[in-house]
Amino acid sequence: MRLLINIINQEGKQMNNTEIKIAKDTYWVGKIDNREVPFHRLVLSKGTTYNSYLLKTGKPTVIDTVDMEFGREYADQMEKLIDPLDISYIVINHTEPDHSGGLAALASRAANATIVCTEIAVPELQEMYKLHARNFLVVKDGDTLDIGGKTLLFKETPYLHTAETMITYCVEDKILFPCDIFSTHVAVGKLFSDEAGFDITEDFKGYYNAIIHPHRRYVRTLIEAVKDLEIEMIAPSHGFIIREDVRKYIDLYAELSRETTQGKKAAIVYTTLKNNTKKMAGILQNTLQANGIETAVWDAEKSGMSEILDSIAAADAVFIGSSTRYADMIGNLEPLLKELQQMNLEGKLAAAFGSYGWSGEAIEVIQDYLNGTNMTVQSTSEVIKSTGMTHVEFPIRVRFSPKDTDKTQKIKNAADFVSDLLLSSF
Ligand code: FEO
Repeated sequence: MRLLINIINQEGKQMNNTEIKIAKDTYWVGKIDNREVPFHRLVLSKGTTYNSYLLKTGKPTVIDTVDMEFGREYADQMEKLIDPLDISYIVINHTEPDHSGGLAALASRAANATIVCTEIAVPELQEMYKLHARNFLVVKDGDTLDIGGKTLLFKETPYLHTAETMITYCVEDKILFPCDIFSTHVAVGKLFSDEAGFDITEDFKGYYNAIIHPHRRYVRTLIEAVKDLEIEMIAPSHGFIIREDVRKYIDLYAELSRETTQGKKAAIVYTTLKNNTKKMAGILQNTLQANGIETAVWDAEKSGMSEILDSIAAADAVFIGSSTRYADMIGNLEPLLKELQQMNLEGKLAAAFGSYGWSGEAIEVIQDYLNGTNMTVQSTSEVIKSTGMTHVEFPIRVRFSPKDTDKTQKIKNAADFVSDLLLSSF
């Protein structure tokens, strides 16, 4: 069953969407959805809300929209507040369709509006909503926009939780509009957390754990971005608006994203043809060690099998790599991999890597061997399913030399991902 829950104001008066003001000239134009919504492979047992905001300034501006299922209803609601042709800007902080989904309906009526977003977001919005002919304003970290009586400041917050994400801060009102960040998945018909009738902390933490924590490395960027902002209200795009104890909730993100374990170890074992796989091992080692993970590196051709196996037995994460020659691994990795299948390596993380010139079969053969152990083997498929990240790939495949910036970054991303798994308690 789907309901639009009416918002009750502090005096107990039932309000229409058109009357919901959260600050001077700033209106909530959202949708409360109390279905048990399937979402990120979770079922939102308390429902959720899609919060959109209209700033009725000299250059009227909308910040985020609602889920695509409610686009027409949303645009109808917006028309009760403003002639859409008067809208100057539509800010899209995050392109996922639960927030950008109302854009198609709104943009078709708001024909004069410029869409404001990060550079990465432009082609996504153009493709999703057929907006190739629309005006876009690309904003970068720290840019400001005068919307006629108010000023918006934009901060890029990539990977919280997708690459194109940014947050918007209204300088005059001291309101942060962070879209997914600082949200809750609760639909109880109250707009503000202090009116909820219960402590929202567990819901706030639950949302963080489900949506933000897999990207906790990037919470540092967020904390840095907001540390000098005077924030009196957080107006996210799911759940409660926070206007009391605002810093408590920001501090919770800083606390929950901290590393919680120490003393982790990694072992990297490789064979190499032209030193490219060796260079990959070096990049992995440097990244892991920069993250505080003690890392041993072994050239399987130059080290004894028992020494390597002892190192693997003591490690929390194991990386095995080989160059590809004649569509297979090189050197003496195969006996080692067979030995690993006989060992109890439960609880360890494992990843395959390698440089290649044509097809990179060796990397896939290593992956197959690792899948035959009882380690948790990293794969692109699992990364996408568990986090939504598409910039982290396993096995780690690099064509020829890893020295190009993009290739080096790819290796670092994988090492950072494993580091984050090791250093987080959940
Ligand atoms: Fe609420 Fe990432 O969408």
